[in-house]
Amino acid sequence: MCGIVGILGTEAVAGDLVEALKRLEYRGYDSAGIATIEGGKLDRRRAEGKLKNLALRLSNQPLQGRTGIGHTRWATHGKPVERNAHPHMNDKVAVVHNGIIENFRELRGELTKKGYAFETETDTETVLHLVTDNLKQGLKPVEAAHKALSRLRGAYALGIIFAADDDLMIAARQGPPLAIGHGEGVTYLGSDAIALAPFTSKITYLEDGDWAVLRRSGAEIFDLAGKPITRPTIVSTASSLTVDKGGYRHFMLKEIHQQPEVISHTIANYLDLAAGTVEFPDLGIDLKTLSRVTISACGTASYAGLVGKYWLERYARLPVDIDVASEYRYREAPLPENGLALFISQSGETADTMAALRYCKDGGQRIAAIVNVRTSTMARESHVVLPTLAGPEIGVASTKAFTCQLSVLACFAIAAGKARGHIGPEKERELVQALTQVPRLMSDILRDEKPYEHLGHRLTKARDVLYLGRGISFPIALEGALKLKELSYIHAEGYAAGELKHGPIALIEEGVPVIVVAPHDELFEKTVSNMQEVAARGGDIIFVSDAEDGAAGCKVIEHLHLPKAHPFTHPLMASIPVQLISYHTAVQMGTDVDQPRNLAKSVTVE
Ligand code: AGP
Repeated sequence: MCGIVGILGTEAVAGDLVEALKRLEYRGYDSAGIATIEGGKLDRRRAEGKLKNLALRLSNQPLQGRTGIGHTRWATHGKPVERNAHPHMNDKVAVVHNGIIENFRELRGELTKKGYAFETETDTETVLHLVTDNLKQGLKPVEAAHKALSRLRGAYALGIIFAADDDLMIAARQGPPLAIGHGEGVTYLGSDAIALAPFTSKITYLEDGDWAVLRRSGAEIFDLAGKPITRPTIVSTASSLTVDKGGYRHFMLKEIHQQPEVISHTIANYLDLAAGTVEFPDLGIDLKTLSRVTISACGTASYAGLVGKYWLERYARLPVDIDVASEYRYREAPLPENGLALFISQSGETADTMAALRYCKDGGQRIAAIVNVRTSTMARESHVVLPTLAGPEIGVASTKAFTCQLSVLACFAIAAGKARGHIGPEKERELVQALTQVPRLMSDILRDEKPYEHLGHRLTKARDVLYLGRGISFPIALEGALKLKELSYIHAEGYAAGELKHGPIALIEEGVPVIVVAPHDELFEKTVSNMQEVAARGGDIIFVSDAEDGAAGCKVIEHLHLPKAHPFTHPLMASIPVQLISYHTAVQMGTDVDQPRNLAKSVTVE
């Protein structure tokens, strides 16, 4: 996901722009650049790769100027090369953009006919020429920008500056987030509050359809029709420290090890630990008579939702319709009267999940969101926010956010089961007690990473890896496969263990690694028999289980021990081994563990 920053300052801004961009690195990017205005002239520096390359460029060729914009680019249109890096500019205008202009081809054709030569393959360049063309027609900068916005279709967050006026910045939001920061005689623009935290905590979030005229004296916000509107200015709690690795080799490893702590914070938010009861927020809907819950999310968050489905149907007898948001948003699913729709997202900005949310909201559903970023768009557009208290998750591969999402869903399942008369006081205490043991039991697993380092080395030689799980372990098999794919770039697939004989077993031959998530529950024996089918064909079994050694009844190359835990919490326990397997394999593969290739921390485009 791209990052945008802008500063209308009182002294040279280049250094602060780069500092702000550093706080957006976690979003994933492949090039960066800044542009400033000095003496009525626009100038820019851009560089491929990491921000350190841009900083080096600036140290060799400094930029002055008190007005500037900056950008970290995650390539959508055009290769991740300097030529396509933002800001895009000419002698009059400079533009930074996050998102996708869906009608850029039509605009590009129109502008080419008008004689504009396109230097890049980007959709952003159409915004630059649109604004420039409006200036040429005699419009003032604000009007030129406003008229250009009315031509755009798609998702965009924009920052625009003009050589003719160094006390002006235009901001616009349609999809990807954008925030205005208010300083003393200085005005800031950023993709989120984290970017602006070192400079100001006074933040105004733009909403979809807003555009704004920023000056050092302040900001005026308008709707697309040009009518002035107001948005609240809040005091953000985003940390002004760049989140650091805290002595760990990677953010991901730090965040894996933070899970016991952040899970305890999260469950404490939904349980009365002293009384051993659940204290879940009122969702504004009658859980007792609720006919169905719709759950939609993407990637890892969708696997959390799938675990939630097993819990809600088993403990609350509550039917769940779950689908990945990129499918759900176009499915035109019929919606129940007074249904509940639950969306799960670490960033709270994922475009597909937002689209699914808006579909359900338009369909009269009660909207609840499990999010890690409380100031996110998803949080602001939901009726009820159920925060995960994971803290900023910097590693692109989601770990602590995932297990915190599971923790919220587990608490919800208890609350729903209680409200619907399926969980009595004794069962409630039993399940709450099981959750309170999770942090300690997770710490037990995290104490010894040696088996994972050893296994990681072995998996580097694999071409295909299978993850198997039954019942509530099936989503963990899916998550484990996703983790391995996205971190080590080794092909992996998660399967319901019972599905093996319906095709995938054809993949099994000598040496194919098969990771079997098999905590000791009522399906354990069935999973073990699937495992024996694999072993009989030469597959290399990695056994993730709390069972005693030898319980697999076949040769395993590695038994990754889970601590004895209540079956209710098995998905939380099994999450740690699949995270560590992917982490240590990626380290051995030498991939960019915190920012794997082609991935972004939050996908704010379709
Ligand atoms: C997780 O490891 C992935 N990076 C990805 O699947 C992610 O979970 C997905 O893009 C959803 O993101 P969100 O939770 O911010 O909505």
